[in-house]
Amino acid sequence: MKKTGRLAVLGSINADHILNLAQFPRPGETVIGKQYQVAFGGKGANQAVAAGRSGADIAFIACVGDDDIGQRIRTQLADDHIDTASVDAVANESTGVALIFVNGAGENCIAIHAGANAALTTARIGKHQQVIADADALLMQLESPLDSVLAAAKLAHQHNTRVILNPAPAVKLSDEMLALVDMITPNETEAEILTGVHIDSDESAARAATVLHDKGIASVLITLGRRGVWLSENGSGQRIAGFNVQAVDTIAAGDTFNGALITALLEKKPMIDAVRFAHAAAAIAVTRHGAQPSVPWRTEIDQFLQQQG
Ligand code: RIB
Repeated sequence: MKKTGRLAVLGSINADHILNLAQFPRPGETVIGKQYQVAFGGKGANQAVAAGRSGADIAFIACVGDDDIGQRIRTQLADDHIDTASVDAVANESTGVALIFVNGAGENCIAIHAGANAALTTARIGKHQQVIADADALLMQLESPLDSVLAAAKLAHQHNTRVILNPAPAVKLSDEMLALVDMITPNETEAEILTGVHIDSDESAARAATVLHDKGIASVLITLGRRGVWLSENGSGQRIAGFNVQAVDTIAAGDTFNGALITALLEKKPMIDAVRFAHAAAAIAVTRHGAQPSVPWRTEIDQFLQQQG
């Protein structure tokens, strides 16, 4: 039965191997790193953790391998207030891995081995369909098999579960997929790949948003890095600035934004307040290292917002 305010997140789980260095190596170059860390990540898991820590009632549909790190990640997810009954441990698979470089400016580049994430098949979505049917909203990204994301969106549509898509990493999507999405949250690059509009101003963000509305998406939020977010719905758009903080590491900033945003919307906060709440969560995250280690708890977000006045 549908539970008011319930969130389902569907997505990836990775063990992030993070190397901090002054500058990214060029092809053929070897550079010595400054600091190395293994942290829990994956866009799906980061968004689930951001929702769990910011107070959502959340279930997660995902896969880990049948390895030690998969076990530890599952336990951590439960500690982060996430219902993990639909996080499957896949036999003879290893947990997904992300290899991440972070440069001196806090920017990152990431390469992924899907591992058990590739086992989040349409059959497995079918097995967990009740989680989607019972939820008010389904939040997904694109580190899972695309046919499974489409199958989950169709199920959500059938059961009046709102579909929120964070289209990361950037992939071209079919009109069939986009028509099933109620809210989309691309960054500038992802929005350009989906719409063909190069975004370098509010005006171009508005044009990209119009293309996405024309595909059938009611709410479009294009994240613009330091410039904030372009929010477009009900025929009008506006830019909502973020908070100015000293960033040390932007890994999972977008994931934190997404998880916190949906949490606030499910609490029935008005959209502008929900974006401000999500901006605050992401601002805290960029001042810390790693993906999930950087994601703030609700008390920290509330305190940050109070300090901003
Ligand atoms: O968005 C950040 C995440 O992307 C990292 O945690 C990494 O696992 C990749 O999925």
